Amino acid sequence: MGFPIKRPRRLRTNERLRALVRETELSPGDLIEPLFVCPGAKVRQVIASMPGQFNLSVDEAVAEAQEAQALGVPGVILFGIPPKKDARASGAYDPEGIVQEATRAIRKGAPDLLVVTDVCLCEYTDHGHCGVLEGGEIANDPTLDLLARTAVSQARAGADIVAPSDMMDGRVAAIRRALDEAGLAGTPILSYAAKYASAFYGPFREAAKSAPKSGDRKSHQMDPANAREALREVALDIEEGADIVMVKPALPYLDVIWRVREAFNVPVAAYHVSGEYTMLAVAAERGFIDRERALLESLVAIRRAGADLIVTYFAKEAARLLRRS
Ligand code: PBG
Repeated sequence: MGFPIKRPRRLRTNERLRALVRETELSPGDLIEPLFVCPGAKVRQVIASMPGQFNLSVDEAVAEAQEAQALGVPGVILFGIPPKKDARASGAYDPEGIVQEATRAIRKGAPDLLVVTDVCLCEYTDHGHCGVLEGGEIANDPTLDLLARTAVSQARAGADIVAPSDMMDGRVAAIRRALDEAGLAGTPILSYAAKYASAFYGPFREAAKSAPKSGDRKSHQMDPANAREALREVALDIEEGADIVMVKPALPYLDVIWRVREAFNVPVAAYHVSGEYTMLAVAAERGFIDRERALLESLVAIRRAGADLIVTYFAKEAARLLRRS
């Protein structure tokens, strides 16, 4: 029996009714804000490819983190722009490196915030690749040791969670082993488990100055055409010790988020990446789209697909909007 008995519009009559039957909740507590930390003091440099986002020196990153904390955003994820780069990415695992320094400062200045650190070499290598090069190829196994050293040095600096984004085979196991051997068995790993070789990282690579000088990342990041493979990647990372698994990017891969959510019982994260941010920010700047509505709709869609938490450049703005509503 359908119409006129069944009238779905009844429950959409007003906001109180709509709120009563809303299936998916988006709250500031679901969001993690990425920060790009650079050398210097009082630096707050506009990222041209990401209007409204900045490269921040450590002092400015602390101020930003404090603001996020005050808005109810539970965590930040740190990316480093080191003062100099080399072939073996030594800035990534330097105990005095930019991310290590920022981690210590944020832990002190915003003690209620979770500090997540991105573990990858691409921001620290002079060639821009995510691993060490041997004969022009990204060498998997020799890279693992450097990733593990990076994660340990970040956790020693106080990182609450380490988040490998490099997509080398076996990195989660290598990092888990190294953390445990260093007495850091309590540090969780959030692995970028299903990370696609995506054009949507374009604006980030300008922000982090991490574009590869030659070639691309297709030998380690996933083919956008594959979803079953994402389940294999996630299964491997969980087996190796990942505590939270992430799908990245988010909106073009909602089906993957959904499949991962259905297939596994660990917390699922999604990364609403730089290109997703920039498309929306620029369309709104030009007056073609309502920024606030579009960003909330994007984030709720990612939650609806099954993500427990979302890494997003809109974290603070969304938190502000959600508190107001
Ligand atoms: C690698 C890393 C990247 C992003 C997060 N970690 C870039 C890449 O793989 O090229 C992209 C994030 C974004 O686009 O917002 N360190």
